[in-house]
Amino acid sequence: MRKSLLATRVENLSFPAPPILAEPEGVPSDTPIRLNLNESPFSPSPRAIAAMQSAIKSVNFYPDHGCTALVNALSEKIGIPTDQFSFGNGSGELLIAAGMLVTEEGDEAVFPAPTFPTCGKGVELSGGKIVSVPVTKDGICDVDTMLDAITERTRLFYLCTPNNPTGGILSQTDLDKAIIQVPGNCLLVIDEAYYEFAQYEGAPDVLKLLSNRQGPWIVTRTFSKAYALSGLRVGYAISSEKSINDGIWKLRANFNTNRIALAAATAALGDHEHLDSILRKTIAQRERLADATREMGCKIYPSSANFLTIAPPVAAKPIQDALAKVGFLVQALPWPDKNGTLRITIGDEKQMSAFINALSNILK
Ligand SMILES: Cc1ncc(COP(=O)(O)O)c(C=O)c1O
Repeated sequence: MRKSLLATRVENLSFPAPPILAEPEGVPSDTPIRLNLNESPFSPSPRAIAAMQSAIKSVNFYPDHGCTALVNALSEKIGIPTDQFSFGNGSGELLIAAGMLVTEEGDEAVFPAPTFPTCGKGVELSGGKIVSVPVTKDGICDVDTMLDAITERTRLFYLCTPNNPTGGILSQTDLDKAIIQVPGNCLLVIDEAYYEFAQYEGAPDVLKLLSNRQGPWIVTRTFSKAYALSGLRVGYAISSEKSINDGIWKLRANFNTNRIALAAATAALGDHEHLDSILRKTIAQRERLADATREMGCKIYPSSANFLTIAPPVAAKPIQDALAKVGFLVQALPWPDKNGTLRITIGDEKQMSAFINALSNILK
């Protein structure tokens, strides 16, 4: 059979598949401890659980494609009109859509490296080319160098703050530079998957700063991280203008955000105490892990997310393997040098005690 251009592009996609954690019983196992996917070790809000239980009774009906209850709740909370929101089965879907919307064959998109790769998928599927700019030595998007990489073919400029897999956030100065200097024919995508953690620690208010932008922009966020709802797959995008929002709605598969997810996300959004407690506990454990690993001789990268990236005193990959043997999954990164780093998702207090103990035994 003749291969379509799209099929060829799919075949050539350079993106790694996510780690496969098989669940033969249909439920996650307690071992190994998953510190490799930036999931929450904490349960979602009891209000979200109650809302899911109630929504189960209506699963014979398709969900509300307009996501009315959720969009109203978000609009009220964030202070942005409802017609600027779109929804995905996870924010990853929206990042792919954003890439597909604005790039054509031969166009370019400027990305930090390393970063979360999904938006790049949309770019490559449309025939666009990714121009990668290394993050700073602290693991933060290097806005000045990224701005220098813009050409007349650039149609998308992707920032991730906090950046996954490194953890650092953009300063207000750098955000302002990007907001003003990324040209008006270029979509500025700001991925805020870890928004709630960063905001809790006083990060700049990206949406507020974006009010100064003349050109188009999209901000993506998710319920997978601070709201502890990874398994439900629900994310949202806020777009600067109707044409972009309409484009994303057209690309959405019908009823892509399911009934149970919508109910849970809407309820979770109203449970400020629960969110606060997850943020507080996660950040406390992250600081504890940073102190403990620093004492083991590791270099710590700044993080405003639910993970910590550390450079061990010896090569990271064998440590990842040794940790897996004793029941802990973490992500080794080939960054910033050949020794690499480890990205460790923050677990609960008990998991972190066991992890610190295991890592210290391996590094001895
Ligand atoms: C920076 C970043 N963006 C987006 C996502 C996608 O999240 P989801 O599709 O679960 O909303 C992730 C997930 O790890 C991420 O780290």
